[in-house]
Amino acid sequence: MSTLTLRPGAPASAILGVGGYRPRRVVTNAEICELIDSSDEWIRTRSGITERRWASEDETVKMMSIEAARKALGRAGIEPGQIDTVIVATVTHLHQTPAIATTIASELGATGAAAFDISAACAGFCYATAMADSFIRSGSSTYVLIVGVERLSDMTDKTDRSTAFIFADGAGAAVIGPSDTPGIGPVVWGSDGDQSHLIEQTQPWDKAMDGDNFPDGEPHWPMLRMEGNPVFKWASYTMAKTAAEAMDAAGVRPEDLDVFAPHQANMRITDAMFRALKLPSDVVVARDIARQGNTSAASIPLALEALIESGEVHSGQTCLIIGFGAGLVFAGQVILIP
Ligand SMILES: CC(C)(COP(=O)(O)OP(=O)(O)OC[C@H]1O[C@@H](n2cnc3c(N)ncnc32)[C@H](O)[C@@H]1OP(=O)(O)O)[C@@H](O)C(=O)NCCC(=O)NCCS
Repeated sequence: MSTLTLRPGAPASAILGVGGYRPRRVVTNAEICELIDSSDEWIRTRSGITERRWASEDETVKMMSIEAARKALGRAGIEPGQIDTVIVATVTHLHQTPAIATTIASELGATGAAAFDISAACAGFCYATAMADSFIRSGSSTYVLIVGVERLSDMTDKTDRSTAFIFADGAGAAVIGPSDTPGIGPVVWGSDGDQSHLIEQTQPWDKAMDGDNFPDGEPHWPMLRMEGNPVFKWASYTMAKTAAEAMDAAGVRPEDLDVFAPHQANMRITDAMFRALKLPSDVVVARDIARQGNTSAASIPLALEALIESGEVHSGQTCLIIGFGAGLVFAGQVILIP
């Protein structure tokens, strides 16, 4: 029997730089309350959100991704031509094919890079991080650009009380490269398709575009529908266990952790996880949701960028990231701050 040669991989990988893009338009709770029966106080106390950003027409998935990626590349000190793999995590690139990752690679100058999109909703950034780490350690890739990007406002019913105040737009990117020592810990990930109905697109595109499916005879653009309360409970309790497993897998005890940057789904979910994990009070907690809303795959890199830019966290610190959302899907790992 013939044997095949394997390409040697790097001993480990690390995040080398992160960057974000926040749309120009700030949408306050007061503006949201013009469309739904709610109040600034209710939204702040139930979700922690004071304002969010919604993309304008020119702030496309591609444009936001490229802006975030350029910042990440600059901070990593990596030229676009060194990137050999581009992974874009998104659920709001509205073209079924081709993947947006190929265009992003070309426009950045990552010519010829392997490029593809993944659909892992709010866990997308952590899924992409795990994939990039594996590709680098297996020798398949050397420098990987990952992007989490969403225009959730395109798929949010602005009159729906259960989603209109939560979802928002933005992009976050990270450059991941080889390292002699681990900068990305083992991923703990999984899914629960039995609960796929908890967050989903209201109807598939073919049904949405056929007016015969609706009483008014008109096509209806699909929106995101969410059963907030069960999602809240699942995220607050089950995800805390996943986060604890990710810390265990990386050999990081609560007292060793410096930073906690979970998916920015709801401030109360972040607080519930913090308590369940029994993290020390001096752990820095990402609270980007207050100004940014829930940007799904973009939320963790945006939160990391904000913590780094504010000087609250420093290179080399341990940081627990965990993403969870529609699918249901989840993934968490401990990383080192670039
Ligand atoms: C959406 C969410 C904030 C709602 O909070 P909640 O405490 O679960 O709210 P409930 O749906 O149980 O409703 C509680 C009350 O608030 C009211 N309410 C619901 N939405 C409201 C709104 N937008 N404004 C004001 N009141 C609202 C309900 O009518 C209900 O009133 P009642 O007690 O008089 O019947 C919360 O469920 C949540 O954050 N879930 C997770 C969402 C999430 O993270 N999604 C992304 C995962 S990736």
